[in-house]
Amino acid sequence: MQNTLKNKKILITAGPTREYLDPVRFISNQSTGKMGYAIAETLHNLGANVYLVSGPVTITSNFPKDKIIAVETGKQMYDECKKLFNELDIAIFCAAVADYTPKITSEIKIKKIENEISIEFIKNVDIAYEFGRVKTSQQKSIGFALETNNVLDNAASKLNKKNFNCIVANSPNKDEGFGYDTNKIAILKSDLSLTEYPLKSKHEVAQDIINAIIEMFKPVAETAF
Ligand code: C5P
Repeated sequence: MQNTLKNKKILITAGPTREYLDPVRFISNQSTGKMGYAIAETLHNLGANVYLVSGPVTITSNFPKDKIIAVETGKQMYDECKKLFNELDIAIFCAAVADYTPKITSEIKIKKIENEISIEFIKNVDIAYEFGRVKTSQQKSIGFALETNNVLDNAASKLNKKNFNCIVANSPNKDEGFGYDTNKIAILKSDLSLTEYPLKSKHEVAQDIINAIIEMFKPVAETAF
């Protein structure tokens, strides 16, 4: 069953991004990359051709270091992913890309002179959305939705907006989401079928997600008349 993914070209984005205010300061988020790296490791072990585009992480992983495409900002992550868009079979968007990036990044360190400062932010490029716009019917994309409220409604709207084939919904509760070794997910497919899973290790969750992806590649059963 798992050989379906052998030699498939699979992009995985993982970890946080850093959006720089000046050369030494940035805004980021709590993503550790654990979920993305767990998926990357499992797919690599299944013989897939994995492109792991990763923001800065400190976790240890068995994924081959020389195969990691390391980036810092959302724009850099997009640029690396875009180079691969045409050749991909599957894209899995696990990264917690910062929603906004400073409109201007100061070339020199911002000085502590004013009592108050304001920083203008602009929307970061949405990598998953951009892939969703150009992907062919043979290419599949999988997204993540980390939500604190209305988890399934928000996941369904992202599934639509970003043209995902399925979306993995989770929430930042204790033992789930950012930083933990465990996660509790629900997978919503584009036919709106929903599968909910119990709390599991991120490696087991990775396997559940991969099984859902394998299902997508199964030929549609012939209808008997
Ligand atoms: O941040 P948001 O909740 O919209 O993320 C939903 C999905 O879109 C995730 O799979 C995330 O990796 C992806 N995404 C992206 N580029 C962004 C923002 C989100 O690829 N700039």
